[in-house]
Amino acid sequence: VHRPEATGANGAARDHLVSWLTHEGFALRVDAVGNVFGLLDLAGGDAPLILTGSHIDSQPDGGRLDGTYGVVSAVLAAIGLRAEARAGRMRPRCNIGVVAWTNEEGARFQPSLLGSSVYAGAVAADWALDRRDGGGVSLGEALATIGYRGTDTAPAHPAAYVELHVECGPVLEAAGRRLGIFDRWWGCRKIELLLEGEAAHTGPTPMAQRRDALLAASRIIVGLREMADAAAKDALHTSVGRLELWPNSPNVVPARVRLFIELRSPEAAELMRAEAALQALIARTAADRITAIVVRDEYRRPGRFTPALQALAETVARGLGEASLRLDTVAAHDALSLARLCPSIVVATPSCGGLCHTPLERTEPADLELGLDLLTGMLRALLTADALPDREGQCHANSGAVA
Ligand code: GLV
Ligand code: MN
Ligand code: MN
Repeated sequence: VHRPEATGANGAARDHLVSWLTHEGFALRVDAVGNVFGLLDLAGGDAPLILTGSHIDSQPDGGRLDGTYGVVSAVLAAIGLRAEARAGRMRPRCNIGVVAWTNEEGARFQPSLLGSSVYAGAVAADWALDRRDGGGVSLGEALATIGYRGTDTAPAHPAAYVELHVECGPVLEAAGRRLGIFDRWWGCRKIELLLEGEAAHTGPTPMAQRRDALLAASRIIVGLREMADAAAKDALHTSVGRLELWPNSPNVVPARVRLFIELRSPEAAELMRAEAALQALIARTAADRITAIVVRDEYRRPGRFTPALQALAETVARGLGEASLRLDTVAAHDALSLARLCPSIVVATPSCGGLCHTPLERTEPADLELGLDLLTGMLRALLTADALPDREGQCHANSGAVA
């Protein structure tokens, strides 16, 4: 799967989703940043909305499940619940919406969680549309090319958001559990660093005279790994996932390198410590006649999903005969953006071998089905609840009309 945001392949997947939603009678809305919503009226226009979904953009040469599993499951769950309502087997007090968020991955355009951040009001749509990929193409231009720079108004904020995802880590498999309930999400610091040295001939230029930006980048990469290795277990993950270098010729000393650095931790204090250590590492490295410029610095606070939704997930899992496990998500999800707006949660199925962001991504088919049952059960409970929780978990009477 190679479906970075707003590429041709991403457009084809969006078209497929849209024709499925249309065929199934969902009311379709594509907003200004290309978020695709499919809405089913189950309880009348004024009733609260329960929203579910994920993303269908992928990493370069990524996996089939990351994000897509949540979107496909959301559509299947919504169709199944509508059928239950039509058959009179449940009486929804809310409407249901499914969503595929734009640019969750942050692979082609940075930052990640971009479409959901616009929806949540964390960033402006114009700013999002102006993000540029490595080749200078803006998100707005790329969306227009695939026909997804929409003009519809996004639906009003939901009463709750539930996302189903694969774990993207090894914890559930190691614990022998088939269902996970994310409690905390890790925070992160994402820094784009430009190192500038000087181009020179790789042959005759005396070693002492070189200002090698790639050598400096290498020292930072190794230093970052040592920071994570020196931290307590599960306290800090560090990486450099992408490098761009100029002029990138076998016989020119690299003049300029751009590094995409990530620090991730469940604790804000640990992230601050790591950030300070990184700054010291950059300063030490730059002392060797290299200029270091931070061109992008993004911070995401660690946080917690809504306790009442965690409890609901646990109850529904138990009803399915499964003991669930509460765990952290280290991978980011659009539910983090939604948590600013409404009760929000991600529930998970195991990732075989803990693998994610690779074509080897896999989950046992029976576990994928079980995850869909968990999602459906949670949505059924929310659609029919007398009272819906707020973000802190307090319950409020559901003012939705009974259909
Ligand atoms: C997305 O998968 C992320 O965690 O960065
Ligand atoms: Mn994902
Ligand atoms: Mn991902």
